[in-house]
Amino acid sequence: MSLSHIGLRYGNGPEVLQDINLELQQGSMQFLTGPSGAGKTSLLRLIYLALRPSRGFVQLFGRDASLASRDELALLRRRIGVVFQGFELLNHLSVFENVALPLRFTGKQHDSYKRDVEDLLSWVGLGKMLDALPDTLSGGEKQRVAIARAVVAKPDLLIADEPTGNVDPQMGQRLMRLFSELNRLGTTVLIASHDIGLIETFPVDVYTLVDGRLSFRAGKNKGGERDGRA
Ligand SMILES: Nc1ncnc2c1ncn2[C@@H]1O[C@H](COP(=O)(O)OP(=O)(O)OP(=O)(O)O)[C@@H](O)[C@H]1O
Ligand SMILES: [Mg+2]
Repeated sequence: MSLSHIGLRYGNGPEVLQDINLELQQGSMQFLTGPSGAGKTSLLRLIYLALRPSRGFVQLFGRDASLASRDELALLRRRIGVVFQGFELLNHLSVFENVALPLRFTGKQHDSYKRDVEDLLSWVGLGKMLDALPDTLSGGEKQRVAIARAVVAKPDLLIADEPTGNVDPQMGQRLMRLFSELNRLGTTVLIASHDIGLIETFPVDVYTLVDGRLSFRAGKNKGGERDGRA
């Protein structure tokens, strides 16, 4: 995944992202941080191809997104697991069905994934809520459903927007273990978070957005710090 010289403005407003350059190596894990309103969600939506940049290029899995057809964009997006800041669960489907959705899209049959989905939901503490509808869940429970849905199909790329914002610190650590495990299996992981305390416990690279501009700091246990553009 790479962003080259990206600028983004909403309507006729000012550029909320300015000259963003970012390249994620396949199999890497990193955080994106920065104050509220800095542009983190906008950046993740560009990567997910839910927004088009006002200038610059988005490359996903080696493909220039601006050249891809609608069908091709849909296929590229299926390789991405997303945890949206607002969760975006389907309210008419049960917890189980929400999480199973990415597997159904790949054509898998219910019997082949039932056990995996149940195990994953147990792991995030929702083993007794398989049949619940999202509207009846707490914020933290919804967040865990969204996370389970994002990781269940072992995507090539996982982007998570404040994925631990609604859970207690212990559950936050547990969810981070899930992301680390997915990363260990080969998924590229990018997590947007305000939670500096949580970020500091991981020896991974950190990108910081301030006023629409991106800076980079190498992971603490990965060979010191360096500043400058990504
Ligand atoms: N749909 C939109 N239309 C107009 N402006 C928008 C829209 N979405 C975001 N913005 C503006 O873009 C800027 C970046 O917003 P964004 O949601 O990307 O920030 P963020 O870093 O994710 O913030 P937070 O930490 O609060 O989630 C903000 O100034 C915001 O007001
Ligand atoms: Mg945001």
